[in-house]
Amino acid sequence: MLRVGLIGCGAIGSVVARELEAGAVDQVELTAVLDPFVDHPLGVQDRDSLLSRSAVVVEAAGHGALREHGVAVREAGTDLLVVSIGALADEDLEARLRQAEGGRLFLCTGAIGGLDILRAAMLFGPLENVAITSTKPAAALSRPWMEDEVLSALADGSEPVTVFDGPAREACGRFPESANVTATLSLATVGFDRVRVKMVGDPAATGVRHVVRASGEAGTYELSFENAASPDNPRTSAVTAYSVLRALTDLRRPPVSFL
Ligand SMILES: NC(=O)c1ccc[n+]([C@@H]2O[C@H](COP(=O)([O-])OP(=O)(O)OC[C@H]3O[C@@H](n4cnc5c(N)ncnc54)[C@H](O)[C@@H]3O)[C@@H](O)[C@H]2O)c1
Repeated sequence: MLRVGLIGCGAIGSVVARELEAGAVDQVELTAVLDPFVDHPLGVQDRDSLLSRSAVVVEAAGHGALREHGVAVREAGTDLLVVSIGALADEDLEARLRQAEGGRLFLCTGAIGGLDILRAAMLFGPLENVAITSTKPAAALSRPWMEDEVLSALADGSEPVTVFDGPAREACGRFPESANVTATLSLATVGFDRVRVKMVGDPAATGVRHVVRASGEAGTYELSFENAASPDNPRTSAVTAYSVLRALTDLRRPPVSFL
């Protein structure tokens, strides 16, 4: 049995917990949940208790939690599966997480896919013009730092509003809960400073749409994802929890996976 500890039991974590407890993934067992704001039957109060029960820890709690626990999990010899990928836009945190010795570091593919072909294309030759446009329900993108005009267009307008156009590193800082896929694309391809991101708030959108474009000597790629929003968090794609379950499926021994 692969023993799984969970940090964060919100929109993503609660679905992962529910599915694992229902036996959705053969040979994978939920053993502990660390979330100070959620009362769970497998709840633990601190990281040491979590680590003593887990062979792999899934982080599904946010940038702060990854900063607080990520390095220590690896240093304890426990594998770490990261869901809050956008936190790695912080160069210092990325370096510390990568350099920590012990358990393995896995980055969950989350709400997008197709990274395998982009990585294959980069082995053929350089990828250029890597870009992602993320369109979300307008209310999910309003932030306190936006100008009043933009906030009222998001709240009351009938047209899509582009609220950000720039490099992925800046997108992850400005939208810590909503730019994880831009981080995933960056880490899999040309890096946070060379992936161009557009974030669009659409009053008509009910789910989340990501369109990835990239070109290079190997070909031209356009990958499109239309994800239903999580019923518990409109900023999160419902499929993300299932990408965690898919990753755990691949971490079982013996592994059975698409490579
Ligand atoms: N990789 C992707 O494609 C992708 C997609 C969607 C969301 N995410 C990210 O996944 C993370 C979880 O998303 P969500 O929608 O479940 O969020 P959520 O807000 O619904 O749940 C987060 C949970 O973590 C808990 N938490 C916060 N700080 C904690 C800490 N220090 N220790 C333990 N628990 C803590 C909260 O109490 C909450 O229950 C976020 O960082 C989000 O940005 C990633």
